[in-house]
Amino acid sequence: MNPTTLDLFADSEPEQQSRREQIGEQSYVLRGFALPWLERLLPALEAVLAAAPFRQMVTPGGFTMSAAMSSCGTWGWTTDRSGYRYTRHDPRTDAPWPEMPPVFFELAQAAALEAGFADFVPDSCLINRYIPGAKMSLHQDKDEASYAAPIVSVSLGLPAMFLFGGFERGDKSQRVPVFHGDIVVWGGVDRLRYHGVLPIKEGQHPRLGEQRINFTFRTAQ
Ligand code: SIN
Ligand code: FE2
Repeated sequence: MNPTTLDLFADSEPEQQSRREQIGEQSYVLRGFALPWLERLLPALEAVLAAAPFRQMVTPGGFTMSAAMSSCGTWGWTTDRSGYRYTRHDPRTDAPWPEMPPVFFELAQAAALEAGFADFVPDSCLINRYIPGAKMSLHQDKDEASYAAPIVSVSLGLPAMFLFGGFERGDKSQRVPVFHGDIVVWGGVDRLRYHGVLPIKEGQHPRLGEQRINFTFRTAQ
């Protein structure tokens, strides 16, 4: 084979499933990474939500969050007038949070690895549901016992503008559009970066309808 033939072969290799965009020193957007998992993810999501339905929670300041939430895994993230915390039980039912479906765990671990974080063992998956107009104000994820593990954040359904900020609330944020199947991973030196989501625009997603679903995987304990 001459070099020209080799080049032809190189060009005919299938496109990589996912593009990786760096948005911080240890932060990446993995474009479309969740898409090949979707047919396993959605039924697993349905089962989790049947056991622990979405509900809107109240912040310590008394505001009702616009995103509705549920959780699976050992630890579920909750908020009420007395504060933010991880609990082992769903406060709505007092039952343990649904187990994290294996497909959730595998996806989170694969995405973390793709972003350079080996051996991610999430014990918590917060599930956020945004309808048009819902948003998430800039915040840090800091209710975890250690910041050694990254955050793995999966976007499904309607697109969103993800805000990826600095280490102070007032720092300028990057605007990162996130689409169905994208995963944002941040950790290491970027673990405590502020982040949030601008109000979701009106729209209909062919698969998920008028909503955006986000999974946020963390090691809580
Ligand atoms: C979160 O920070 O809990 C959610 C972020 C997102 O919905 O993309
Ligand atoms: Fe967060």
